[in-house]
Amino acid sequence: MSHRIAPIDQPVTFEIDGESITAQAGETVAVAFVAAGRTTLSRSIKYHRPRGPFCLSGGCSQCLVRIDGAPNQYACQTEVKPGMRVERQNAFPHASLDVLQATDFVFSKWFNHHEFMAGVPIVEKVMLQVARRLSGLGLLPDKPAPARAAPIVETVPLAIVGAGAAGLAAARTLSERGVPFTLFERERACGGRLSIGCDEGAPAIVVPPGASLRVGATVVGLFSDDGRPFLVALQRERLHFVFFERLLLTNGGQPTLLAFPNNDLPGIYAGRAVSRMVRTSGVLPGKRVAVVGEPDEARDLARLLVASGAQALAIGAKPVRAHGLRSVTALTVELGGKTEKIDCDAVALCAPLSPAFELARAAGARVGWDERSRLFTVEADASGRATPTVWVAGELRGPMSAAAAAEQGLVAAASIAATSGGATP
Ligand code: FES
Repeated sequence: MSHRIAPIDQPVTFEIDGESITAQAGETVAVAFVAAGRTTLSRSIKYHRPRGPFCLSGGCSQCLVRIDGAPNQYACQTEVKPGMRVERQNAFPHASLDVLQATDFVFSKWFNHHEFMAGVPIVEKVMLQVARRLSGLGLLPDKPAPARAAPIVETVPLAIVGAGAAGLAAARTLSERGVPFTLFERERACGGRLSIGCDEGAPAIVVPPGASLRVGATVVGLFSDDGRPFLVALQRERLHFVFFERLLLTNGGQPTLLAFPNNDLPGIYAGRAVSRMVRTSGVLPGKRVAVVGEPDEARDLARLLVASGAQALAIGAKPVRAHGLRSVTALTVELGGKTEKIDCDAVALCAPLSPAFELARAAGARVGWDERSRLFTVEADASGRATPTVWVAGELRGPMSAAAAAEQGLVAAASIAATSGGATP
């Protein structure tokens, strides 16, 4: 059972499907849900399989819920507010017991909802209603979205996206060399994986004083106006069009869901999501946690879990199959040439991030298949330069430790400073 190991000292009460939940101020709906010992937060779009949060970083869409009448909100990116009304969606009659899950059994091989279109007007109308319920995502909002203010248009000489190990290291070097920059970070605090752990021996979080820093600013795209590239950032419900002369991308990647049967059961989390829950919210995902996948990360995470009072099992093993009906109750693993089924109430999957290369590609960088890591990574020269005006560093370039990412940030910053007229290292 997931539970809190740290007491709530600033309570916030909100409701999920009419039931009152008390959370710690500042935590997200998804973490509050897990901390309350719950598992099924949503249902999958087509097969109505139970879903719980997986990544806690806005990358997997397993936590979409209706909040205060607005559908498809990321529970892992939404802070709890007093009186907030959260509804689990895509289920009938409700997410804990969804009769539409019959779809999963009836169409166990495949299910093409387009074939429900019958071609006869009245029948088609009926079938459309059925198909929408079987394969839709949320219902229309209670009220129209408020009109957005016009975007703020600005120009910066150098934009950095991502304030993790690589971005912060670059920011420090650029500050020391007097190169002006604006750093965008989608989280409310800097640090990335440095703040959520899973990487012992990582550098400390040091934000250069006086840096132009935009926290809580999500860069959602990169476009061009008459050949002039600009970033689109969303900060406090306001869009910013940020024209830049040069760009450093250190925006990392998304947790990878390892492939094995039933890997979508609630209670299966990305390793970094578990680390985030424990370190930043004092929430344990379970009492018996299988910590599988990449051995180094698994060992670090297992130490954290044990120090927090959980049992860590099958450390670094290869997951073969998850078991359970509504949430994970056991995991078959392969370790040392042997296959074994272990009872557990949570699973942490430790795996390299999948690089979030979309911005880099939109900026003109090449993305290629890296056979060693078996991931698509952003290609760049030794200084991190991917195009004449774009540099990349950190996990965008493939799996690496936080220390190695910081080193890449330093190298990229030195290269940028050199092209700004600053001294080379
Ligand atoms: S997107 Fe919210 S848990 Fe993955």
